[in-house]
Formats: sequence, C-alpha cells, structure tokens
Amino acid sequence: MDQKSLWAGLVVLMLLQRGSAYKLVCYFTNWSQDRQEPGKFTPENIDPFLCSHLIYSFASISNNKVIINDKNEAMLYQTINSLKTKNPKLKILLSVGGYLFGSKGFHPMVDSSTTRLEFINSVILFLRSHNLDGLDVSWIYPDRKDNTQFAMLIHELAEAFQKDSVKSTKERLLLTSGVSAGRQMIDNSYQIKKLADDLDFINLLSFDFHGSWEKPLVTGHNSPLRKGQLDRGTSSYYNVEYAVGYWIHKGMPAEKVIMGIPTYGHSFTLASANTAIGAPASSSGAAGPITKSPGDLAYYEICQFLQGAKITRLQDQQVPYAVKGNQWVGYDDVESVETKVQFLKNLNLGGAMIWSIDQDDFTGKSCNKGPYPLVQAVKRNLGSL
Ligand SMILES: *[C@@H]1O[C@H](CO)[C@@H](O)[C@H](O)[C@H]1NC(C)=O
Repeated sequence: MDQKSLWAGLVVLMLLQRGSAYKLVCYFTNWSQDRQEPGKFTPENIDPFLCSHLIYSFASISNNKVIINDKNEAMLYQTINSLKTKNPKLKILLSVGGYLFGSKGFHPMVDSSTTRLEFINSVILFLRSHNLDGLDVSWIYPDRKDNTQFAMLIHELAEAFQKDSVKSTKERLLLTSGVSAGRQMIDNSYQIKKLADDLDFINLLSFDFHGSWEKPLVTGHNSPLRKGQLDRGTSSYYNVEYAVGYWIHKGMPAEKVIMGIPTYGHSFTLASANTAIGAPASSSGAAGPITKSPGDLAYYEICQFLQGAKITRLQDQQVPYAVKGNQWVGYDDVESVETKVQFLKNLNLGGAMIWSIDQDDFTGKSCNKGPYPLVQAVKRNLGSL
C-alpha cells in the first residue's frame, strides 16, 4: 500500500471510530407561536434539514400520563409528519417537563413503580401513535431526595423502550434528558453512572450561568465558554468548559454530552456609569419588544439592539456583550458559537444543542445574515450531521 492510500485508510478508520457524525439537537417551544410578528414561530417555520434532532417542548403530565396541551395540536402532528417525509433521517422527540412545570410536576408520578409504569406506557403509546422518535425528560431539576426516583424513571423508560423495539420491530425510541450545568445541581440531582448507561445522550443546559436573579446584582454573561479573570470561588464553576468537564469527570461519556448553545442573551439595567462585566446593576434589562420578558432577549432582538450599541468581546470568556445607554446584554453571536463548536469538537463531544431555534433570527430579517444565522453557523462548523 502506498503512503497516500495508507493515509486515506487511516482517516476512514478514525471517522469510523468516532462512530457517527455530530448531532445538532434543536429545541423549539410551543409558546413561540403566541409571539407577535415577526417573532411568531410555528412548526411550519422549521427547515427539515437544519438539525439532526428536533425536540418539541414541552409536554406535561396529567394523571400519570403524558399529554400535550398545544392549541394547535392537530396541526403539530401533521407538520411533524411532513418534516419527516421531507427528511427521513430527521429525528423528532418530545420533551416533557420544563422550567414552569418544575420538579413538582413529576410528583406523584415518579413516587411508585405503578404510577411510573402507567406514565411509561402512556409515553410509548403517545410517541408511536404520532410517529415521534423519542422522549426527552426535562425535569428542572430533581433535588437530592428525588435523584433515586429520577434514575429509576430513566432506567425503566430505557428498558421499556428496548422491549418495545423488539415487540414493535421498529427502531428503538430514543431517550434523552435536558440536564443542569450547575455544579451543585450536578452533584445533587443526578446519579450519573446510572444515567450514562440508560440515556442515549444528555442535552446540557450550559447557559443561564448569570442573570438578574443574582445577589449582589452585577452584570455577568449568560453562557461564557470559559472562566473569567474575575471569577473566584463558586463563580469559577459558572461556565461551559467547567460544566462539560464536570459531567465527564463524574462519568458521562463525552460522546453522550450534547453541549447547549443559547440563541438568547440575558440583560441588565446598569446602576452606574460602569459598563464592564461585574458592574453593579439595578434590575433586569428592559423586556424585548417581541419576547416581552425582562432580562431575556432573543437573538433577533439583540441584532436590533446592536445598532448604535458598543460591543465588547471578553477575551477570557470568549463571548461578547453589548451596551447601549443603561442597558447591558451578554449574548452569543456567530463568532462565539463558532468558538464553542471548535471547543466541543476538540473534546469529542456528541454534538451541539440549541435552545431554541425560535429565538434565532429564523426569518433572516433582523440580522441580515440569512435565516437562522446562529444555527447555520453551528451546523457549518460541525460539518456533516
Ligand atoms: C404549551 O404547552 C403547555 C404545557 O403543555 C401549555 O400549558 C400551554 O398552554 C401551551 N401553549 C400554547 C400556546 O399552546
């Protein structure tokens, strides 16, 4: 064999060893359909080739059964099926839980094996009857006394999905979980070695590291890639690099870690003329004109905000923030998501997760970089999906 074909062979071998291509896992929310134009987002806005996995959020639990309460439920199932017809490789999952549903939503379902079984049976029936490919459990978050029940629920789901694939002779349903990136939560909420056996992958919520809920109230970035020069003590944990490393250190295989990248920023109202990171703030930033939630801005709102704003790139944390008047926002842009994707590839992670595609500039009208500038940048830098 000559040198060239030897190299070609080696490259093929390395690709095979990586198993498969990177995953691009994209959440979309059912409440984005209620936003006013141009933020109104419905599943018909989804490009079937944008992501490898789409996750509808959120379903909930009622009488120990999984349910969807979407006001356009019938349309949703139709769209799911047409997306899958256009791209047969696309996987669409259902996420149950979420921030508002909280931890209490999972009780009393998780408390006994009978009620868990009732839930699990309802999940399989639901996913199969709507041609969905799996379940994402977004229990935000199990506390220390819940972590056994959480691990049991996941284990029983995994076993049931396995049995179902034999019985139905269909491809096995996927099982994933949206999990915390906070060190204390990682210690308390998850029996990681067990979860590593039972989950196909985790969707790491590696954002919301800083926001206007913090005391003392000072400016900080939503999703810094790395520790900042000013970070001391526990704030040294509040970055993507630390969270990813800690999950892996505690036993989650790197290839099962899907690293979260946000399409939104957190904003603050400055309390003084100091506009730096760590500057005093008086409250959350003003609500965006479309998303209307103080302290949160979608990327399509940030692009508008950037006109006439002063942009600073944090060299240590590798993310930007922008200031206009007394408003401060820490966010991700094409450059920072490219750096993040390079980071996750260097660590051989499983891929990137986007929260959420409805907050990217999905029309392309706000940022003038074409539709989905952030998701497209992630996709481009991941290479083939
Ligand atoms: C979205 O789903 C939640 C949970 O099922 C439900 O309470 C809410 O009404 C839904 N929103 C819309 C706009 O359908």
